[in-house]
Amino acid sequence: MRNILLALLVLASGAAGAQSFPSKPVTLVAGFAAGGPTDTIARLLAERMRQPLGQAVLVENAAGAAGSVAIGRVLRAPADGYTVSIGHWSTHVVNGAIYQLPYDLLKDLEPVALVASNPQVLVARTGVPAQNLKELIAWIKANQGKVTAGTAGSGSGSHVGGIYFANSIGASLTFVPYKGTGPAMQDLVGGQIDIMFDQAVTALAQVRGGRIRAFAVTAKERLAAAPDVPTVDEAGAPGVHIAIWHALWVPRGTPKEAVARLNAAIVDSLADPAVRKRLADLGQDIPSREQQTPEALGAFHKAEIEKWWPLIKAAGVKVE
Ligand code: MLT
Repeated sequence: MRNILLALLVLASGAAGAQSFPSKPVTLVAGFAAGGPTDTIARLLAERMRQPLGQAVLVENAAGAAGSVAIGRVLRAPADGYTVSIGHWSTHVVNGAIYQLPYDLLKDLEPVALVASNPQVLVARTGVPAQNLKELIAWIKANQGKVTAGTAGSGSGSHVGGIYFANSIGASLTFVPYKGTGPAMQDLVGGQIDIMFDQAVTALAQVRGGRIRAFAVTAKERLAAAPDVPTVDEAGAPGVHIAIWHALWVPRGTPKEAVARLNAAIVDSLADPAVRKRLADLGQDIPSREQQTPEALGAFHKAEIEKWWPLIKAAGVKVE
């Protein structure tokens, strides 16, 4: 009888612990500097997720190795749901094809939820001598290897976008790595670098403000948030299609209840009309409700790795 009571007490305290998640602030660890796409998405979510979670959600920027340092930081933290990895197509897919990672992107991470997806915008400093993409390509070819392209590090989305573009037009670019496209954008606005493949989430505001110029989006369709910017197919670099999706993961072994609470907080945030409008203005495509489950992210993540690793290796994306 005493043993049964003890077992019931242990079960009850376990259930209470799970229900009380989170009992302290949750941290989203982003792999790039403040002001860039990942940081922007993370802060937008963090602000809204505090309502359903009833706790503060903090954003930590752990830049390095195109987002890999941040994933390592999350995987060294206890698997309790309080330290969450926020990353995207390049951090959680591409990096596995080009870095010798000390972790396995599928086995060591537990999917939480897909958040949103956006294409890149090929942007340039205002002073580049080109009025459209064809003229920009001619200028890049006339200055073979001299045109500078800002990136968020080897293998980052901005780097891969630049490599795909350069390969497709038969030209070479000089890549200039930063801790994220946030600081790279400051240099683009200041005219220290020439071009960048930045995600719509941060590029569009700068374009609208007239601080940089947009030449094409890396998508098959124009963005509703930027209908004047042609697609790469329309403008002269056909087939350079890159969609960068952001998502959340926790270390494998995190209690199911914590994963469910975090997932529910994302689902709740993505259902909020104000959040949806903000994301749409930033050029983001929000996944359907069915695509927002941890299982859907797990299957999608695996499929993206299977699709992109051979392509990334064939494209010659290397750690520089
Ligand atoms: C960032 O936040 O700086 C970006 O997500 C980097 C990238 O282009 O991959």
